[in-house]
Amino acid sequence: MAESQPWWRDAVIYQVYPRSFADGDGDGIGDIAGIRRRLGHLSDLGVDAIWMSPWYPSPMADAGYDVADFRDIDPVFGTLAEAEALITEAHAAGLRMIVDIVPNHVSSAHPWFRKALADPRAPERDLFWFRPGETMPTAWVGEFGGTTWTRTADGAWYLHLFTPEQPDLNWGHPGVRAEFEDILRFWLDRGVDGVRIDSAALLCKDPTLPPVTEGRPHPFHDLDEVHEVYRAWRRISDTYPGDRALIGEVWLPDAERFAHYLRPDELHAAFNFDFLGCAWEAGKMRACIDRTLDAHAAVGAPPTWVLSNHDVTRHVTRYGRADTTFSFDNNLDGTPVDLEQGTRRARAAALLSLSLPGAAYVYQGEELGLWENENIAADQIQDPMYARRGHTRDGCRVPLPWSGDAPPFEFSTAEPWLPQPAEWKDRTVQAQTGDPSSMLELYRAAIRMRRAEPGLHAGAMTWADAAPGVLAYTRGPDFACVVNMSGAAVALPDHDSCLLASGPLDGVRLPPDTAVWLRLPARGQ
Ligand code: GLC
Repeated sequence: MAESQPWWRDAVIYQVYPRSFADGDGDGIGDIAGIRRRLGHLSDLGVDAIWMSPWYPSPMADAGYDVADFRDIDPVFGTLAEAEALITEAHAAGLRMIVDIVPNHVSSAHPWFRKALADPRAPERDLFWFRPGETMPTAWVGEFGGTTWTRTADGAWYLHLFTPEQPDLNWGHPGVRAEFEDILRFWLDRGVDGVRIDSAALLCKDPTLPPVTEGRPHPFHDLDEVHEVYRAWRRISDTYPGDRALIGEVWLPDAERFAHYLRPDELHAAFNFDFLGCAWEAGKMRACIDRTLDAHAAVGAPPTWVLSNHDVTRHVTRYGRADTTFSFDNNLDGTPVDLEQGTRRARAAALLSLSLPGAAYVYQGEELGLWENENIAADQIQDPMYARRGHTRDGCRVPLPWSGDAPPFEFSTAEPWLPQPAEWKDRTVQAQTGDPSSMLELYRAAIRMRRAEPGLHAGAMTWADAAPGVLAYTRGPDFACVVNMSGAAVALPDHDSCLLASGPLDGVRLPPDTAVWLRLPARGQ
């Protein structure tokens, strides 16, 4: 990697979802002990950093995104001392650590909210959005669907953009700002290399509580005031040595508004959900990549390339459907899936996302080619979104298969908290290790090569001529990536050698749904 670049500009960042990575204490739920034991998997994979989804004390109404204490660890995951040990061990293994901060809301079990609820005159009420009245203050629809207000025993209403167990904080209150600045310092002091900021565009609300009206500024999405919060955070992170990064979860359709979060005095990076939701179609992908590059170039920020995370349908499944897009408003659960096609495309997508300029994210299990488990019985579903939208995110949160022929696949000695498909016996880390045709070995090879390949750290990319339905681009003087999203094999451009292919080539032709990394003939020859 080029020395002059801060790590977060072109890192490969691996998302650990702690409930489902590895279980060290045999209760069927993943934990820090399990992660420490399996750190070797991440070193072997070659990633640069780990992003840890929330591990704080929580009643788990939203799988830990309902935080009761930001300065400790939930006993189900371990202790603060274990978290500190993990940070040290990750660093010793050459891995950076990113923790997840959830500033939009706290758990209803957080001491602030308990106090606010216990007494209508408690000063803690001002830290939230309490409103009097006989009827609900607004008809806003929550982020999971459903209403956004719950009535307390004393007749007041409080705002929650997610579940009633996640009351929204009032970011107009200086006490809220001070508390989160202190939480940020708490984790930076413990040596973390960055934070991922949950629901980063939702923090500020219009205090007049207007209705959501087409053509008018949204009352709680992307208010201008939110930028001041991140400017203050940036001033703090800049005082720490060693390139600490602020990474936002920013779901916004408008690329220009999205890029505002990445101005030089705000966040360092944000997740690219436009790419994640894009159809597997060359024209649309190319337009999405161009949009991404343009928006980021305007503010000098590195693009990110994200295919999956703990909130969205796994991309092996998405790419195996007739409609390959993703959006929460377009529920495709249970529609037919061709897993072979999805896997072929996911392999090609890995070479695409790992060779575009910027940082790439890998969600645990995508390196194993896991698909969405769409067969979780209704009474086993834990995701609070299910009751509100009829869609569950649990299918992408199923515990990883490590080895063995049957569940729990050495994830745990107990029954995993969500069921693993028996067919994953071919997708365990053990089954794939050493098999050159496996997804795992493809990821390992691609990440290793990305590290060593100067062209992949050379900044810009340049589109090359390609047949319809094909994406082709160069990086640096002699590296090229070609992705065939058309239905027919196409001729490869002139090249000296094929560095890596996502699937078997057909002589010098690139089959459909296949990608290659090529060494081009040196310029001028
Ligand atoms: C983010 C998280 C998601 C969570 C929500 C509320 O979108 O990624 O998992 O449910 O915020 O915190």
